[in-house]
Amino acid sequence: MKITSFDEYQQAYKKSVEQPEEFWAEVAENFVWRRKWDKVLEWNFKDPSIKWFQGGKLNITENCLDRHLEKNGNTPAIIWEPNDPNEHHRVLTYKQLHDKVCQFANVLKNNGAKKGDRICIYMPMVPELAIAVLACARIGAVHSVVFGGFSAQSIADRINDASCSLVITTDGGMRGNKEIPLKSVIDDALVQCKSVSKVIVLTRSRTPVSMIKGRDVWWEDEVKKVETQGNPACPAEEMDAEDMLFILYTSGSTGKPKGVVHTCGGYMVYTGYTFANVFQYNKGEVYFCTADIGWITGHSYIAYGPLTQGATALMFEGIPTYPDAGRFWEIVDKHKVNILYTAPTAIRSLMSFGDEMVDGKDLSSLTKLGSVGEPINEEAWHWFDEKIGNGNCPIVDTWWQTETGGIMISPIAGVTKTKPSYATLPLPGIQPILVDENGKEVEGNGVSGNLCIKFPWPGMLRTTYGDHERCRTTYFATYNNLYFTGDGCLRDEDGYYRITGRVDDVLNVSGHRIGTAEVENAINMHSSVVESAVVGYPHDIKGQGVYAYVVSPDKHGDEEITRKDIMMTVSRIIGPIAKPDKIQFVSGLPKTRSGKIMRRILRKIAEGDTSNLGDTSTLLDPAVVDEIKGGAL
Ligand code: WTA
Repeated sequence: MKITSFDEYQQAYKKSVEQPEEFWAEVAENFVWRRKWDKVLEWNFKDPSIKWFQGGKLNITENCLDRHLEKNGNTPAIIWEPNDPNEHHRVLTYKQLHDKVCQFANVLKNNGAKKGDRICIYMPMVPELAIAVLACARIGAVHSVVFGGFSAQSIADRINDASCSLVITTDGGMRGNKEIPLKSVIDDALVQCKSVSKVIVLTRSRTPVSMIKGRDVWWEDEVKKVETQGNPACPAEEMDAEDMLFILYTSGSTGKPKGVVHTCGGYMVYTGYTFANVFQYNKGEVYFCTADIGWITGHSYIAYGPLTQGATALMFEGIPTYPDAGRFWEIVDKHKVNILYTAPTAIRSLMSFGDEMVDGKDLSSLTKLGSVGEPINEEAWHWFDEKIGNGNCPIVDTWWQTETGGIMISPIAGVTKTKPSYATLPLPGIQPILVDENGKEVEGNGVSGNLCIKFPWPGMLRTTYGDHERCRTTYFATYNNLYFTGDGCLRDEDGYYRITGRVDDVLNVSGHRIGTAEVENAINMHSSVVESAVVGYPHDIKGQGVYAYVVSPDKHGDEEITRKDIMMTVSRIIGPIAKPDKIQFVSGLPKTRSGKIMRRILRKIAEGDTSNLGDTSTLLDPAVVDEIKGGAL
């Protein structure tokens, strides 16, 4: 299953296009199935309906845990590095992780969870988060992990959308020197959630919490009960390849975040295959992915992908700048990390603290580097290459999305020739196509267009939870018979792909996807706001910053206070990650006669480029543009 030369890559790619079913069947043979599939693939992008490995039976945790026990039971599965460098790190071998997953799976069963139930997980980056995720998969329950930075309202929306019956959380958590009261946030969320009957609370920060009788139980007490019951084993539930594995919410151009649905068989095969190949993982290597399990990168490349391959994954609880901006390098030094997979925003931020933060740390264990989440600029790429990789670690710039389940366009480490800020070539099985606004294919090299994919791959989303029509209109209706990614892309003279960023109303702030409509809705909740428009602007560290134009005739005199108030409102409704960086008060928004906000103009002003705003004569009130230009921040 592992490609080791560029020749092999080309052969694999050719086969994956000419004989996709044979190709993926061969890959799938590298996994443990209770029963083999009857049919590799059945699909149409019209409905859409995508089925991989139909008739196949499996449990992904048998592939992540049980199958490694005999030969590699004592291999570390997870090395956990705490937020506070003075606290002891933890190591869980495959055997220990297996036992803990089984134990907690039994806890879930004791608390009424069963196959098909939806379970919300809201936890900091502790090993128990991985254990909770895998325990859900063990019993066939569908996990919906919500990133620990989201607000009570965001959690409630997600819990209600999926009718979760159970929540797993911790008393609190530490990120840097900030304490996050997770249980109390859950309590606020659950006021709005009728479907939840049980909350399991892990002790982490010893933050005081209130436990509701009959609803809330402690993780530790429940584990003890299982221990005294004396049956630690938990046989894995047999799942159909197309049974739901998890839901993960992500932002789009319109409306509330949607629940992207991934299924058991295809997702397992795709994350395992891409992990093994892109990172060229060799047995015994220590692999450190700096993402949070609350995002897709953590699902696919901390939890599932690496574990299916028997890898050792390092999981970090803290943030890159605590206690100082040398923390990542200290971790690499301390745990002799071989593969480091991180985000451009982290690289830019750490770069800004100066080379002193890297000097003196031994980074010689590193052999491969990876980047994900947003386009990486050339300056950051070169710093990563030279300062961190010492000029001899291949960088894999991996392009993919929550919806794609795994990496789609990326170099294969040491195999594909890299080029700064290029995601380079599609992985085997991935058939990208660039189209113009009318959906006409842009052929040849040295061209750009909207990035679509024309053939299914095993890791792709199957639906959006509870609303299949939304899945169809969002991804499959823009261009006939194509999956539309929402990204713009160019293909250079060598046929290499470079992702240029979103072409829709989705922002990418520090690698986090944020819908402009979502932020506008939150801003509009503030009592002195009449309306607002949100756009992105280039930000040195975050990649994109959030720029809000706000119509608020009644600012009660003090603009600064209203500004802070609005920011707090967004924090409360969505979470701190969506907080606007800039708020400009305006008397009106530029609108066409039909009432459509001209975002193109607002984007240009936010970018500081007011020289050529294009034709403004069709605006209802062209004068408003001059006012906005004059007050730009
Ligand atoms: C962007 C994260 C350029 C892109 C895995 C995509 C990238 C969105 C890259 C998905 C990359 C991700 N180069 N842009 N290497 N990786 N993106 O769902 O705009 O959080 O559509 O998944 O991030 O973000 P998501």
